[in-house]
Amino acid sequence: MGKVFVCDHPLIQHKLTFIRDKETRTKDFRQLVDEVAMLMAYEITRDLSLKEVEVQTPVATANCKVMSGRMLGLVPILRAGLGMTDGILKLHPTAKVGHVGLYRDPESLQPVEYYTKLPTDVQERELIVIDPMLATGGSANAAIQVLKNNDCSQMKLMCLIASPEGVKAVQEAHPDVDIYVAAIDSHLNEKGYIIPGLGDAGDRLFGTK
Ligand code: PRP
Ligand code: URA
Repeated sequence: MGKVFVCDHPLIQHKLTFIRDKETRTKDFRQLVDEVAMLMAYEITRDLSLKEVEVQTPVATANCKVMSGRMLGLVPILRAGLGMTDGILKLHPTAKVGHVGLYRDPESLQPVEYYTKLPTDVQERELIVIDPMLATGGSANAAIQVLKNNDCSQMKLMCLIASPEGVKAVQEAHPDVDIYVAAIDSHLNEKGYIIPGLGDAGDRLFGTK
């Protein structure tokens, strides 16, 4: 069973409050999502492996550490996942970025795949699948399956807000994938929206309806 980590750092929780607020306009919403993604990236990469190196400082030799092991790959689920990608890239500018395009059919709530483009060496990377909202879990499950169909084996899922239903769906479908969220909310409404949530993440990020 995949683990669930709630990133409860005070800065993340403070900023999430303003992300949820319906009075927060597009520009501020976008900036806050970017900032929270960067803070969450700090948590999600806590277990990256390091190796020892020596460097010469101006006065002596220092025993230091640099990252080793698998390189990172980011996989935002289009479109709302794009809003969290730059924030992570600020911390890990060398990560490569793949895209999985999915939208949720408003009637059936089933994910519809319309685009996939992945780095050529995606199988060798440790991947972070990114989407602000984990509602029914259909989109995240489909994106993870796309990656597994492309022979990827190491991935984590990073979301701003999850529903209990979405967490359960991912844990059942992909027990090997750990989930990082800033909050787990109460439930889904009849239209599949997270309650209290933040509304439609894509529309709020891009100013659409
Ligand atoms: C939203 C959100 C997730 C999905 C979550 O995307 O960004 O991808 O819904 O719902 P689920 O867990 O029930 O699948 P949406 O389909 O609205 O597309 P968009 O990002 O293009 O707005
Ligand atoms: N997608 C969103 O953008 N928000 C929700 O609450 C559920 C799915």
